[in-house]
Amino acid sequence: MNKNELFLKALKGEVLERPPVWMMRQAGRYLPDFMRLKKKYDFFTRCQTPELATEITLMPIDQIGVDAAILFSDILVVLQAMNIPVEMREGVGPFLPTPIRTSVDLDQVIVPDIEESLGYVLDAVKMTQAELNGSVPLIGFGGSPWTLLCYAVQGQGSKTFDIAKEFCFKEEVLAHQLLQKITDTSIAYLRAKVAAGADAIQLFDSWGGLLSPEDYQKFSWPYLQQIVDALKDITPVIVFGKGCWFALPEMAKSGASALGVDWTCSARNARYLSGGQITLQGNYDPARLFSPIFQIKKDVKQMIDAFGKDRYIVNLGHGILPNIPVDHAKAFVDAVKEY
Ligand code: CP3
Repeated sequence: MNKNELFLKALKGEVLERPPVWMMRQAGRYLPDFMRLKKKYDFFTRCQTPELATEITLMPIDQIGVDAAILFSDILVVLQAMNIPVEMREGVGPFLPTPIRTSVDLDQVIVPDIEESLGYVLDAVKMTQAELNGSVPLIGFGGSPWTLLCYAVQGQGSKTFDIAKEFCFKEEVLAHQLLQKITDTSIAYLRAKVAAGADAIQLFDSWGGLLSPEDYQKFSWPYLQQIVDALKDITPVIVFGKGCWFALPEMAKSGASALGVDWTCSARNARYLSGGQITLQGNYDPARLFSPIFQIKKDVKQMIDAFGKDRYIVNLGHGILPNIPVDHAKAFVDAVKEY
């Protein structure tokens, strides 16, 4: 039982005084305390050390006052566990020295034992829950199989993920085998995260919007649906697909508790496409946090009015940017509390 139940109640569709608020990528680089830790420990050391992951997870709770915590980690730890090495390079971002391009590459990819390979994440969940001590709920997360395939095949970040798409369109059978291995691993991993104490799970399909609606139904949605099916009876699930407004009708019927939307989809359109019943989450343009504070506060009020205060979770439309002033992030959260 959490002292602050707003987030979990919104996921159940309950009527509330005000909507809950949290920010995607809230445990990150716009926080000065995070930058201090970043100088001392490299990225995956921060992920793999439960004490550090816990400390970072708690930063935005204490400093910004959000209504939910999201565990500090990364979607790419799942690929590492599957025997696909991932490095985090300064100025480059994720870098995968042995991308998956052929059947020989694919044979090296395993569906791992979760306790053995990702036990450190489960330890971080337990430690964070002990520290949170019921103050706010803890969100666990994973990447969608499609978004993880993008990194596994491309080998690094990209605006187009052209190599990943080429692989899917030329080697469709291999692509589906890789997607299924990622799905099986993700299901076991996310179930273990729930068993370790996560209160809800968010699935990030950050690159779903690079696919046409038809290809989304081929390469992304069926695998997300498998994960939702496997989790929906043990935890609330939020599906966030960046640029995936076209899939809201399927997503609304999937058994997920809430759907994330980005800022290119209006509240009205998102409600219409999702059928008007399911909880929605989003969708402030992260760059809008550069606006003067009075503007942010005005925008937030307008956004809540547009989505409606019920069946709604206030969030950004994607992750917070690294150079956002902390007081602007706090103004975003304060505006919701003042609603
Ligand atoms: O939301 C949170 O605060 C929890 C932690 C979290 C991180 N990554 C920490 C992180 C979460 C939820 C993620 C998810 C993630 N990781 C996604 C999906 C969300 C999205 O933004 O679309 C994706 C695509 C990744 C892959 C990834 N990890 C990239 C592309 C990068 C480099 C670029 C970037 O955004 O910084 C990372 C590194 C990363 N993951 C950082 C953090 C705080 C920054 C690197 C560092 O601190 O050294």
